[in-house]
Amino acid sequence: MRDEDFVAFLQWAMPQMGLRWAGFRKVRGQVRKRVARRIAELSLTGLEEYRDWLKTHPEEWSVLDAACRISITRFYRDRAIWQFLESHLRAPEVRGWSAGCAAGEEPYTLAILLRLAGRRYSILGTDTDAHQIERAWKACYPAGSLRDLPPAWREAAFEPKGCLRAEFRAGVRFLLQDIRREMPEGPFDLILCRNLVFTYFAEDIQLEIASRLASRLAPGGFLVAGMHETAPGFKRLAPGIFQPA
Ligand SMILES: C[S@@+](CC[C@H](N)C(=O)[O-])C[C@H]1O[C@@H](n2cnc3c(N)ncnc32)[C@H](O)[C@@H]1O
Repeated sequence: MRDEDFVAFLQWAMPQMGLRWAGFRKVRGQVRKRVARRIAELSLTGLEEYRDWLKTHPEEWSVLDAACRISITRFYRDRAIWQFLESHLRAPEVRGWSAGCAAGEEPYTLAILLRLAGRRYSILGTDTDAHQIERAWKACYPAGSLRDLPPAWREAAFEPKGCLRAEFRAGVRFLLQDIRREMPEGPFDLILCRNLVFTYFAEDIQLEIASRLASRLAPGGFLVAGMHETAPGFKRLAPGIFQPA
């Protein structure tokens, strides 16, 4: 499959799924491998036939949508965010939501930070990928996903084989949810919505989700987006840190 053909295919298909082609520019190799596998599974000859297949089999769109999910993450991703939260989260009991939580790396990083600071919290992680949610409940990780964590945090929170200790799992729960269709009610003192909506989704959907996120924030609450993302309708306090405008 030639890259230029695959790019043309993505530019045709992505708007139909509410996705934004530009967000996938750097990670398209991953998506291309999955689509090539799917084409082989269906015994089709290539992208042209797959396009026709999508036109005549509407249920295939959800398969393609799943193939477009990017799940790159790790504990303590973007250290500056966590340092900001350590000094600025002031609620007596922090209510946090990680939207697009992958296998729990982000909500558990928050739990570790708050627990080690002696704070009370309840944290929800949501993701549309059932396999990731299953992994999140299990809370066992390969060494690579722990590598950015401060060593003292890693030692305090993890068993030697990479499983999170039970006391750090308490207070964190997970739900299978597609953020385009549903959202927890809140209110939240902190919403982490990083490297998902504001990179991969079409602009009209970004706007609509941003306004729903704002309505879920408690007064003084923070929205955390990716370091290079902007959230429409929010003002930026620091890289990745936002409050409703
Ligand atoms: C690139 S990861 C980001 C993980 C974490 N937020 C971070 O920044 O490190 C994106 C996550 O969003 C999830 N996701 C993709 N589409 C979604 C949707 N429509 N609703 C909820 N989660 C979604 C993916 O399954 C994946 O786990």
